[in-house]
Amino acid sequence: MTEPAIERVLFTEEQIEARIREVAAEISTKYTGRELKLIGVMKGAIFFLTALARHLTIPVKIDLLAISAFGKGAPGVVRIAKDLDDTIEGEDVLLVEDIVDTGLTTRYLLQALSARNPRSLGLCTLLDRTIRRLIQVRVDFRCFEIPDRFVVGFGLDYKQLYRNLGYIAVMKHDT
Ligand code: IMP
Ligand code: MG
Repeated sequence: MTEPAIERVLFTEEQIEARIREVAAEISTKYTGRELKLIGVMKGAIFFLTALARHLTIPVKIDLLAISAFGKGAPGVVRIAKDLDDTIEGEDVLLVEDIVDTGLTTRYLLQALSARNPRSLGLCTLLDRTIRRLIQVRVDFRCFEIPDRFVVGFGLDYKQLYRNLGYIAVMKHDT
């Protein structure tokens, strides 16, 4: 069932689905009576964003952005490679991420988005690895806290592979 490069499954498809439903309910409650714009960070967050969006009971709009890293020598230094299609001024915005690790990428994105004057700006992440945090970021909604191991699946990649796995798994050390 699992790939050879996988050491163990952390969260099964069923566990992920159940947790996403819970978080979607929390979000729907918090934004009751409002319209929410979900902003997904490509490519990793797309799987989470679509699963989450299907369970929201409030009116939802979706936009996407892509970032690219400047290189290995400059961790956390990213730029927007594909920008949003529309403005977010005056809107309730929720940034949707696959994982918040050091927090560097997230902080950059939150600053860039907040400069566009949304009505509110929140953060929702599928995975949170707080043990590796270098910069404090306020995570408003998260599905799972994870240990200090590299994970793949449900959008997360290793060299662009394994995004399509339905589960989330720890990679073997030697890969
Ligand atoms: P940051 O360290 O919080 O800036 O995270 C940077 C990016 O690294 C994330 O958005 C992910 O794309 C990627 N990343 C961090 N940890 C993992 C992991 O365990 N598996 C796959 N990608 C990861
Ligand atoms: Mg990646």
